[in-house]
Amino acid sequence: MFKRVPGTKDILPDELSRWQELEACARAIFALYHYAEIRPPLIEDVALFNRSLGTSTEIVQKQMFLIQNKEDTYALRPEGTASIVRAYIENNLDKKGKISKFFYMGPMFRLERPQKGRLRQFHHIGCEVIGSSEPGVDIEVIALARQLLERFGITGYRIKLNTLGCAEDKKKLAEALRAALRPKQAELCDDCRNRLESNVLRILDCKQPGCKNVVAQVNVHNASLCDGCVSHFERVKEGLAALAVPYEIAPQLVRGLDYYTRTVFEITHDELGAQDAIGAGGRYDKLVSELGGPDLGAVGFAFGVERLCLISGENRSNVAAKLIFVIPLGQNAAQYALPLLKELRDAGIACDTDYDGRSLKSAMRQANDYNARFALIIGDNELAKGVVTLKDMSTGQQQEIRREELINQLQL
Ligand code: HAM
Repeated sequence: MFKRVPGTKDILPDELSRWQELEACARAIFALYHYAEIRPPLIEDVALFNRSLGTSTEIVQKQMFLIQNKEDTYALRPEGTASIVRAYIENNLDKKGKISKFFYMGPMFRLERPQKGRLRQFHHIGCEVIGSSEPGVDIEVIALARQLLERFGITGYRIKLNTLGCAEDKKKLAEALRAALRPKQAELCDDCRNRLESNVLRILDCKQPGCKNVVAQVNVHNASLCDGCVSHFERVKEGLAALAVPYEIAPQLVRGLDYYTRTVFEITHDELGAQDAIGAGGRYDKLVSELGGPDLGAVGFAFGVERLCLISGENRSNVAAKLIFVIPLGQNAAQYALPLLKELRDAGIACDTDYDGRSLKSAMRQANDYNARFALIIGDNELAKGVVTLKDMSTGQQQEIRREELINQLQL
């Protein structure tokens, strides 16, 4: 017996209707906002991620899936942003227009300790807008994330918002934090003591109670922001308010990737427990130039699809619920059903049938298991009268419909 690799998941047909719904919905919404799909490869030179995510980040230090070649080391991508910026630069996409808007869907890989909502292969639905530092783009991207959630039928989410300031502000913030935290380092967890020198901002969002306590006592954050970053953030907040996008200011939110500058956000959901982020993103104004491209601002986000699927959404359209299960009773009815099934499918109506000549009772049980919308029963009586019996599986009501009127009736 072979088993799947820990931290991976078989996405089975039962779950896939939700996946397909999320993907189809995302495509439609991204199109409304004029974003075009991009599909970079799943493997990249490891140096791309070291450079963009930062060598002191947890992902680069502990979570990379590496493939050692003769001369090169490739990495299975742990996220999409770095690959998309690489593709943007390598394919000279900056020549195509002032601003480029991309969306993407696909698997990401991180060698994490698996737990509920934390996998080693998981999937992102995300977007990146490259070519502008204007707050209008931050507003668009956050409003888009919110509209996606609404269309996914997910309520009860919280959008947490912060600004890290520009690269210079981040440096000032790191220095101020280091100075404030050094005297209290004995109270920090082991990880945060290490982070003090290598990645001090991460201490701000450490979940350990001791560290939270220390962080609550230091308030150096706003002091490090320059006027430009203060007004940028004000405009983002005003825009979100104008669009009635609900958000909470989260001064401790710093994100685990080095490339962020200015706006950062995270969307959480209480149904999820420890791994409560369903999506996250922010602005990364230095990344394009750091990877060898022009000096262009950019902003984006990604949702974790597995985590979206863990939340019980409302108003879901269930593909299986539209299924018609055709039940022919006897040989003649089975013959009759064959062209009928084709006609239904030609008309875009999903259907399935019982080929085993089972009893009505047992075939109805099957229709129920399939979560069919209707059972369509054809027996000798129906054949003689030129009708079919359509049974609504949720109400139990049934009616006879003339064979030639069937498709029209079902399409109503
Ligand atoms: P991230 O916060 O690392 O950001 O990942 C985004 C989302 O992916 C998380 O909020 C979570 O829902 C999901 N996720 C992350 N790790 C796992 C895991 N091990 N198992 C299951 N789900 C997971 C990024 O990756 C950035 N590239 C987002 C971004 C785009 N920023 C700007 N543009």
